[in-house]
Amino acid sequence: MEKDWYRRMCFYQIWVRSFCDGNGDGIGDLYGVYDKLPYIHSLGVDGIWFSPLYPSPNADYGYDISDYRNIHPEYGDLQQFQKVLQRAHELGLKVIMDLVVNHTSDEHPWFMESRKSKDNPYSDYYIWRDARKGKLPNNWDSLFEGKAWEYVPERDQYYLHLFAKKQPDLNMDNPKVREEVKGIMRFWLDMGVDGFREDVITFISKKAGLPDGLPFLPIANGMPFYKDGPRIHEYLAEFRKVCEDYDCFQLGEGPMTTTKSALSYMTGKHKSLDLMFHFDHMMADCMFTEYIQRPFQLKRLKHAFSKWQYALEGKAWNTLYLENHDHPRIISRYGSENYIRESGTMLAVCYLFLQGTPFIYQGQEIGMTNIRLKSIDQYVDVSSKNNYHTFHLKDSIEKRLARIHASSRDSSRTPMQWDTSANAGFTTGKPWFYVNPNYTRINVERQEQEPDSILNFYRRCLCYRKQSEVALWGTYHEYYRSSGKIYMYDRVWKGKSLLVICSFAEHLISVRFPPKYRQQQGKMILCNYKDSDQENRKLRAFETRVYEYEI
Ligand code: GLC
Ligand code: CA
Repeated sequence: MEKDWYRRMCFYQIWVRSFCDGNGDGIGDLYGVYDKLPYIHSLGVDGIWFSPLYPSPNADYGYDISDYRNIHPEYGDLQQFQKVLQRAHELGLKVIMDLVVNHTSDEHPWFMESRKSKDNPYSDYYIWRDARKGKLPNNWDSLFEGKAWEYVPERDQYYLHLFAKKQPDLNMDNPKVREEVKGIMRFWLDMGVDGFREDVITFISKKAGLPDGLPFLPIANGMPFYKDGPRIHEYLAEFRKVCEDYDCFQLGEGPMTTTKSALSYMTGKHKSLDLMFHFDHMMADCMFTEYIQRPFQLKRLKHAFSKWQYALEGKAWNTLYLENHDHPRIISRYGSENYIRESGTMLAVCYLFLQGTPFIYQGQEIGMTNIRLKSIDQYVDVSSKNNYHTFHLKDSIEKRLARIHASSRDSSRTPMQWDTSANAGFTTGKPWFYVNPNYTRINVERQEQEPDSILNFYRRCLCYRKQSEVALWGTYHEYYRSSGKIYMYDRVWKGKSLLVICSFAEHLISVRFPPKYRQQQGKMILCNYKDSDQENRKLRAFETRVYEYEI
């Protein structure tokens, strides 16, 4: 078996509830996924990452798990999952599962037992503390909902929840909890899955004593005491051992992670993760979370991309993504809804040609955009609702709603737009959530028929990547770093190079090629305008080109 096979792959992320409804109850499920496997395969991806499919009360849509060894009845059952897994494997697609072990649902049997008393087999599965001088155990904020502590009268104690109230944090310092995690991993690996995307895995070890956080870091005030905590490497080493018995890989989500801390997980004596998701390039129009907005600046995006490309070169491997279930749609953020096709294709190039393993989120490949609902009551995401009801309360309703329009995770969770029939072909029933009304223009069926659609452009990019050594392995160098309109980089590998040019401007701009590429003529292998003359040095709105050179 090839070591590090995940390095030449590209993944498609499925958030199943909104992907495709196979049985007409309005909720996406594994019957729908099964039917769409040929479509997924046709994109040219090599694997699927499933956001959580497990039973869940859906306080955080699957990230609050009440049974780790089963499938949510709304999505199917274990048998249907195995059918999907088998067919995916037959098509050459790897499958990775979400492993959410920083917390469970408060409806998980462990927590239901734990909350009953201080001396039952599960009482130490979670992080319980007494009140401190009649107040909360410490000053930490939850990342989703108010303070990080919730009182339970039966124990006369508080439990810690870094996320929603219905997501109590597990006590990873308890060896029994770690055994549970390993058991869960083995359960899915034995079934044949190929790896895990490990949810907020860098948060699982909390500093002993849970010290008060810095008051000037709202929401994240406790983070210095739970991010990359003191025993994290020890715990991850235990989990890594399980994976060593299987041909699988581990991808850790690292909110706010730095290149230095990411390298500590992916290299050296503590190597415990193969890949990591960082968030740096998601901050080009916001700070810390999409809710705290600032105008998009290309320089910030380029800086983040370059920082990670340079830092990991020769040491570790990048993950590449622009969208997932936690972020609003990228065209609405870094592109333009007036130039959906142009900016959607340009954005595809800008990240798919970097060095790393790309992830494409459902709907991104057809250029889906943000939804703008009229009232906050129509939104369902716990963090959006909480932000709306907690911050900027003096602003007008319009202003507050505009912030939600720009930031809500619900924008990436609207039903997938398959065709122009009712409900975008997502369901024959009543969809569980609003379909973006632009589905009549933006849908898979239509883009299948248009050779230059975003969908077919993604296919071309992936097809090229797959057979190109330089696109896969080439080293990265950025040009014109100070340009606020153009992102340009090259990749170099064994006598070949790729020059990637992306315009983020809505108007015509001229481009200068780097000196290295002025003398000889490259071969233009991709462009998002039909009639592009490769000698032309003017770029139209969101134009992108990729040139291949022999050097
Ligand atoms: C991760 C998930 C997100 C979830 C959170 C808590 O960031 O991607 O969807 O809400 O963890 O589990
Ligand atoms: Ca269904």
